[in-house]
Amino acid sequence: MEDIMKDFKFGLPTELEYGVGKIDLLGKKLEDFENCLVITDKGIEETGILDEVKSKLGGLDIKIYSDIESNPKDFHVEMGAKIARDFDPDVIIALGGGSPIDCAKGVGILLSEEDSDIRNYYGSDTVRREILPFIAIPTTAGTGSEVTFSSVITDSDSGVKKSIRSPFIAPNISILDPKLTTSLPEDLTAYSGMDAFTHAIEAYTAKTANPLSNSLALYSMELILKNIEKAVEKPYDLETRGATLVGSTIAGIAFNNSDVASVHCMAESLGGKYDAPHGLCNSIILPYVMDYNRKYCTDKYAKVADLMDIEFEDSDSGAKRSVEEIKKLNQKLEIPSLYKIGFKERDIEYLAEMSAENLSNESNPRPMGKEDYETLFKKIS
Ligand SMILES: [Fe+2]
Repeated sequence: MEDIMKDFKFGLPTELEYGVGKIDLLGKKLEDFENCLVITDKGIEETGILDEVKSKLGGLDIKIYSDIESNPKDFHVEMGAKIARDFDPDVIIALGGGSPIDCAKGVGILLSEEDSDIRNYYGSDTVRREILPFIAIPTTAGTGSEVTFSSVITDSDSGVKKSIRSPFIAPNISILDPKLTTSLPEDLTAYSGMDAFTHAIEAYTAKTANPLSNSLALYSMELILKNIEKAVEKPYDLETRGATLVGSTIAGIAFNNSDVASVHCMAESLGGKYDAPHGLCNSIILPYVMDYNRKYCTDKYAKVADLMDIEFEDSDSGAKRSVEEIKKLNQKLEIPSLYKIGFKERDIEYLAEMSAENLSNESNPRPMGKEDYETLFKKIS
């Protein structure tokens, strides 16, 4: 009866529409609106997904804001808010991976708060009112941002990733259509899938884990583990894409009601410093943090080994095998080394300090300080 004595509360204000072809519902969902700001990125424009979405918008007046990059910065949010103020939308659509969705959350905050500086909202419960009606349409299976109360924005002055956490920024509706994820390239499919798996395993093992987040995390891990390699190999298989998309959304709900932990603390330090893909940073770090945490969540890691159909004698050996199998999975997915993202050993002290200061540091099952993070970065490099 894992975590059964822990209190929890659960909230999901987001209405979910899942299924192949569900993007066709978009027009109906927007019947009551007149002006729509679509926040996306150049990659999505190039795939043709944006054209498909635009074709569902009927007579709505549309403005597109696509000048954002991965790891969106404060100025991407502020530029989006400026465009939005001029256009005066009554609904925002975020189309893409975590970057457009997180950026759209920031734009929504600046509009509702009548502020122009997103830095005023870093932290928890800093947002005081509901944002504009907001629809998220994920095109990756990884972020979870389509159901979470958080947005991660990179502060351009310090190069540090900052979280904004508030129930007011959760999307009102998320449309999960596996068709929209089929054009995601192999490497991003692998990275975002491992981001989703990291959300689930961190939600499951965090100090904040509870019976409800555990149940969500376990099924999402199963879906992701059984489908991530197939999604890379057969990108147009809608059943596989559907499984990873649902797995990723469930993992998002799990960590939103528990937390992420040290893998994300380290990945966000790396992502802020080197502007590297978030999912890739998580993938590289995950097995090392699992090994470091192993003695603090042995039974839970053994359950992860179970999900991978591994036979083991006792929880200790099961936990050990789960770490080995995640390392093997990384190899199969061709996850590159830390140096590929620009990592430099001379940055370890800074990266460790940023990791220790992350809002999710306290949630890691093993207590972690700056020295622990230094040890881990040295092990990985
Ligand atoms: Fe993540």
